[in-house]
Amino acid sequence: MIKIAILGYGTIGSGVVEVLHTNSESIAKRAGDEIEVKYILDLRDFPGDPMEDKVIHDYDVIAEDPEIQVVVEAMGGVEPAYTFVKRALLAGKNVTTSNKALVAKHGAELIAIAKEQSINFLFEASVGGGIPIIRPLNSSLTADEIEEITGILNGTTNYMLSKMTFEGLEFDDVLKDAQSRGYAEADPTADVEGYDACRKIAILTSLVCGQQVDFEDIYTEGITKITADDIKYAKAMGKVIKLLATSKKTEEGYYAMVAPFLLSPQHPLYSVNDVFNAIFVHGNVLGDAMFYGSGAGKLPTASAVVADIVDIAKHLHKNILISWSSRKMDLVAKRKAESRFFVRTTEGQMQAKEVFGEVELIQVPGIDGEIGFLTGIMTEEAFEEKAEKIHVIQRIRVV
Ligand code: HSE
Repeated sequence: MIKIAILGYGTIGSGVVEVLHTNSESIAKRAGDEIEVKYILDLRDFPGDPMEDKVIHDYDVIAEDPEIQVVVEAMGGVEPAYTFVKRALLAGKNVTTSNKALVAKHGAELIAIAKEQSINFLFEASVGGGIPIIRPLNSSLTADEIEEITGILNGTTNYMLSKMTFEGLEFDDVLKDAQSRGYAEADPTADVEGYDACRKIAILTSLVCGQQVDFEDIYTEGITKITADDIKYAKAMGKVIKLLATSKKTEEGYYAMVAPFLLSPQHPLYSVNDVFNAIFVHGNVLGDAMFYGSGAGKLPTASAVVADIVDIAKHLHKNILISWSSRKMDLVAKRKAESRFFVRTTEGQMQAKEVFGEVELIQVPGIDGEIGFLTGIMTEEAFEEKAEKIHVIQRIRVV
């Protein structure tokens, strides 16, 4: 019997209990042992809940109980999650977490402690919800130099942009809808401002390069400035707007960015809608691969957490090597990144051409007093210089 403790009985924590209950037999078979939830740590009580008796409020009980072999961190946020997880690892307890904020900030250190202790710190659910991507990067794709990872890594914003595109709904209404479905973070600013996707691409890039990529170094733009008119322009171009998190290996090093992009139908991520996430990976020998699935929500995320518990059960007292050192990776400056840009301006066509050279005009019936156009490919730096010379209402990168 493997006894576990769950920290946090919210969406993910209760999902883990549900998955362990629903698939108890097959999970026990695959883990080689039964998994029993001994404690659930939460500030609240849950009268009437079948797990009511397992709920405790004192973390010391878990940290000091030698029977607990696995701690499932599902609280979210950096503190007190970091303090609890570090203490668990130092006490020789394996940990799995769905917490991207924790992994992005302290992943390298926690991985190193797990290695020293010959135990495991696993975090499959921290990126892409139920989609396997951490394990594939750490085991299946190790023959490759990964040259690009581009993903739709936030279910909430993808759901919102899809609803805005297909149903013409307003930003605020779709946000409430996404929250009520359990997709959004406790503070949805993290979703709509791109901070959640930023931490996820920081984790993926750290795994790809084997060094610490600080999320603070990643240029991040959210979707709060995307309007119904932008969506009309996108439709006129036959494109969709998606919040992409991307990192690429160039001759100068790695660069990473989170921002809304315009995608054409040929792009592999064009058809990824609703709460789904997808991660496009390009390896130098593999070529292209895509990972697609449920990127947020209670059961998909819990599925990934429970799969980590099974992996831990299969590797008790044996560390699964994860290559992610605390040595900092300096990213290539964002100003050097290149793309085409879609621009909306109140200036006339002549002025736009004078500043940007040849441009492709985009017209949307009913939108007056402005023009929309596509530039040629240029660096961020060149674009910013030119954009200062005209009044820009909106600019969206094109991939
Ligand atoms: N709020 C996150 C999302 C949850 O919408 O993708 C999964 O990390």
